[in-house]
Order: sequence, then structure tokens, then C-alpha cells
Amino acid sequence: MELKDVLQKRRSIRKFKDDPVPEEYVSELLHAAMSGPSACNRTPWDFYVITNEEALAKLRKAARYSKMEAKLAIVVCGNLSKALPSQLAPFWIQDCSAATENLLLRATDLGLGAVWCGIHPMKRAEKNVSEILGLSEKQVPLNIIYLGFPAEEPEARDQFNEENVHFIR
Ligand SMILES: Cc1cc2nc3c(=O)[nH]c(=O)nc-3n(C[C@H](O)[C@H](O)[C@H](O)COP(=O)(O)O)c2cc1C
Repeated sequence: MELKDVLQKRRSIRKFKDDPVPEEYVSELLHAAMSGPSACNRTPWDFYVITNEEALAKLRKAARYSKMEAKLAIVVCGNLSKALPSQLAPFWIQDCSAATENLLLRATDLGLGAVWCGIHPMKRAEKNVSEILGLSEKQVPLNIIYLGFPAEEPEARDQFNEENVHFIR
């Protein structure tokens, strides 16, 4: 697919078929995620790939709007032990967001559906996910990405709005 088409076809998918996602696809997704930019190239991220039914069921209870029935979830975590020091540390959020968007776009390109469910900065949800995955104090879950073959097809779209563009010429 052309990149432009992938960008417009990527939509949040919240209903999935039962078919499992092949392991080669998971590898492709992780390669795409880790191709992203990060401040000073710190790559302050960890990816948890979850296919265990029990863990998936627990994740569905971890946050209010993240109850998708999917066979695969990837939790993108910031790793503060790799992040920049002191006031620059919060750059991990942009770094992990860039990785997440790469992952979502590659998912679309592979014919998968995915949805980004936000966890950080919701403290209770962060604690829930950290407990389920056994994260260390240095790891902060940014989101849960549910993935699978899509059972719905929202229309591709371009949300361009010229009111949001400001030229300084
Ligand atoms: C930071 C962030 C948090 C989000 N959290 C949720 C969520 O908890 N549950 C959900 O169903 N969708 C969530 N979404 C998906 C958005 O609702 C979705 O991207 C938005 O409505 C635009 O639709 P689209 O993804 O189809 O373009 C989140 C997206 C982002 C970027």
C-alpha cells in the first residue's frame, strides 16, 4: 500500500475476528515501532506482547475504555532507566507515542486492525497494568494496543483542516 493510503486507512478498530495474529506479523509490528525517532536516540521503551487469555482478561479490567475482545495486545511502556535525565525525562512520552503510531501504521499495512487505549497519565490504570504485567518502578505503561484481523471497516479518511494551519511567510 502507498504510505498515503495507509495513513488514511488507519482507523481505530475495536472489533476483531477470532483468528490469531501470526508471529511474523508481531515481529513486523515491533520492528516498525522501534524504527521510530526518540530524543537523543535513547529508545526508552519496552513492549509487552500479550496473548495469554488470563492476562488479556485482566487487561480488559485495567481501564474503563479498554475492554476490547482481542487475541493480542501490545503494551507500550516508557522505561525511565533509559530516558533522558531530570526535566528532559518526559520526552519518553513522545518517544513511545512515535513508536506506537509506527506500530499502528504497520498494522494497517499488514491488513490488521488496532486501537490505541490510553493508560498514562491515568494513575489508577497505570497501577493496574503495572501489577498485571509485573512492571518495575522504572516502567510506565503508556497504552494498551489491541490487535487482530478487523471485524469492522471504518472508512478511510483525511482529517485535513486548513484552520489548523498557520503559515509564517
Ligand atoms: C492517547 C490516546 C488514547 C486513546 N484511548 C482510547 C481508549 O481508551 N479507548 C478507545 O476505544 N480508543 C482510544 N483511543 C482512540 C481514539 O478514540 C481514536 O484515535 C479517535 O477517536 C480517532 O479515531 P481513529 O483512530 O479511527 O482515527 C485513544 C487514542 C489516543 C491517541
